[in-house]
Formats: sequence, structure tokens, C-alpha cells
Amino acid sequence: MKITVIGAGNVGATCAESIVRMELAEELVLLDIREGFAEGKAMDMNQTSTLHGFHTKVTGVTNDYKSTSNSAVIVITSGLPRKPGMTREELIGTNAGIVKSVVTQSIAESPEAVVVVISNPMDTMTYLAVKQSGLSKNKIIGMGGILDSSRFKYYLSEALDCPPSDLQASVIGGHGDKTMIPLTRLASYQSTPVSTHLSNENLNAVKASTMIGGATLTGLIGTSAWYAPGAAGAALVASIVNDQKRIFPCCVYLDGEYGESDICLGVPVVIGKGGWEKIIDYQLNDSEKEAFAKSADAVRSMNSVLEDF
Ligand code: APR
Repeated sequence: MKITVIGAGNVGATCAESIVRMELAEELVLLDIREGFAEGKAMDMNQTSTLHGFHTKVTGVTNDYKSTSNSAVIVITSGLPRKPGMTREELIGTNAGIVKSVVTQSIAESPEAVVVVISNPMDTMTYLAVKQSGLSKNKIIGMGGILDSSRFKYYLSEALDCPPSDLQASVIGGHGDKTMIPLTRLASYQSTPVSTHLSNENLNAVKASTMIGGATLTGLIGTSAWYAPGAAGAALVASIVNDQKRIFPCCVYLDGEYGESDICLGVPVVIGKGGWEKIIDYQLNDSEKEAFAKSADAVRSMNSVLEDF
């Protein structure tokens, strides 16, 4: 089996490294537009194989889509990252052109692939990939909600002073700082609602930190984060290729679910071999429904910019 990661930058290379260390495929192809860049990253990664003990072969290529043919999964990370003070939404112009061309070229070589979109603004890039690829909607998955949920669990674990692995918590809606919805009501600590352990004030602080989680890191590092985005992408790929049926909040095309249509937004989905298989209904309360509708409005207005492409 072959897995392709497009974009050998911070997120792409980190995601690729997680995938090879989990040995999810015989071959991982890393593709970048920058001459020699993916080749170099691939060589460096291959030179860790005896140290980490993996057998996946990493092939780096410069814009050579033939090498990606018959991939089971294509992960798209190509595009500009955020700089301090920038929102994910401000990347739309440049990244839409890149994602459009990358989706067309990679699907031509791997028509059966499941496509994972990481490039930002992720909700709009996922919608673009659905429209551009002509693939079944189940085969296009935007990664953002897994990352946001992982950050939500991190901030909850700090507030509760407990291991993040003891927590269940989801972020749905858009992947923007203002559009994501950390579901504090449904978050639990070993089957007890987190609201029984944290005050409203603390919970609101966790929610606020989660929503600006990406911007906080961009401010500290000077560019957008890569360890958690890369690991989140790899967790998604693992559930696809190993048919794990894990439930992750992911950005998928909605056809009436959660009251929205003709839009890609984050909702909990079962992830298996064919892509996303089923949308889970969290039975939102009225205020959560209202937040979801508001998030959809913001993402829809961002999607309208695509008409210029
Ligand atoms: N085809 C292939 N690769 C491309 C193309 C293209 N058309 N255009 C750009 N790239 C490559 C760049 O050469 C670069 O190596 O995409 C890579 C992006 O890497 P970084 O600049 O390090 O950005 P990164 O931090 O990895 O973020 C990538 O993921 O999380 C999102 O917001 C982030 O949209 C951004 C994306």
C-alpha cells in the first residue's frame, strides 16, 4: 500500500514521519513543488529507519505525480502557513489555487484514494476538494476537528490536573478561531461531566484557550504549529488504512445533517477504509445549535470567495 503526503514542509514532513513510524504503508511518497526539498526530507527520514525500526520506504519527489499513482490515501498539506497576527482565513487566495491544482493532479493518478485536507483555511479547502475532485463525498475529509479536540483535551487536562488520555472532548463546527465550538457540555473525565470538576469560569477559560490554540502557537513559534497538526493527520490516516472505525470530529460535506447543506464543517464521523462512513448525531441543545448555525454562516461566506477561482 502507498500513502502520499503533498507538501514536505513542517506539517507534511511531521505527518509523514508519524505515518512511517506507525508503518501504515509499504511506501510513503512525499511530494513538494520546491526542487529537491521532498527528496532531502525523504532521505533524512529513511536514515532514521534503523534507529526507529520501521520498514516503510519514503520516496521524495519534486512535483512528480506519476510516483504517487495508486495511493490509498492522499494527505494535502501544501500551501502557505499562518504568520503571527494572521487568521487562517487570510490564506484563502493563495492556498485555494494550490489546493485546486494539487487535488486535480493527485486524483488523476489515484482515483480510488481517500483525500485528507490539512491546508488552511481547512473548511473551505475541504469544500473546494469536494467540488474539484468529483469524488464521492465520503472520500474527502478535513482534519481540523481532530487537532482542535486534541488541544481542547490538553487545556482541560491542565485545568483538571489529569492525563489528557482520561478525557473525552470534542470540537465541532469550523476550524477558525471564531468558528470552532468546543463542546464543554459533553466533555467528560472518566465518565463524569467536566462541569462537575471545573467552575463555569474555568471551563470558559479552557474554551477560550482552545479557540485561540493555533494563534497562540503561531505567536510563539513565528509560523503555524506542526507537531499536533502532523500527528492529528497521521491518526486520521491510521483509522482509514487500518479500518479502525474511530470516531473523530472531522470536516465533511453535509447534506442536511446538523441542519446544514452544501458546506463542509466539523462533525463527529466514523472513519474507516472508505473514508468517513457515518455522521454521529450529538443531539446538540439550542445554544449549541445556534453556535453551529453561526459557524456555518461564517464558513459559507468564506466559501463564496471560491467563486473567483
Ligand atoms: N505543490 C506542492 N507543494 C507545494 C505547493 C504545490 N503547488 N505549493 C507549496 N507547496 C509546499 C511548499 O514548498 C512547502 O514546502 O507546501 C509546503 C508547505 O510547508 P510550510 O511552508 O512549512 O507550511 P506548513 O507549516 O507545513 O503548513 C502547511 O498546513 O496547517 C496548515 O496553515 C497550514 O496551510 C498551511 C499548511
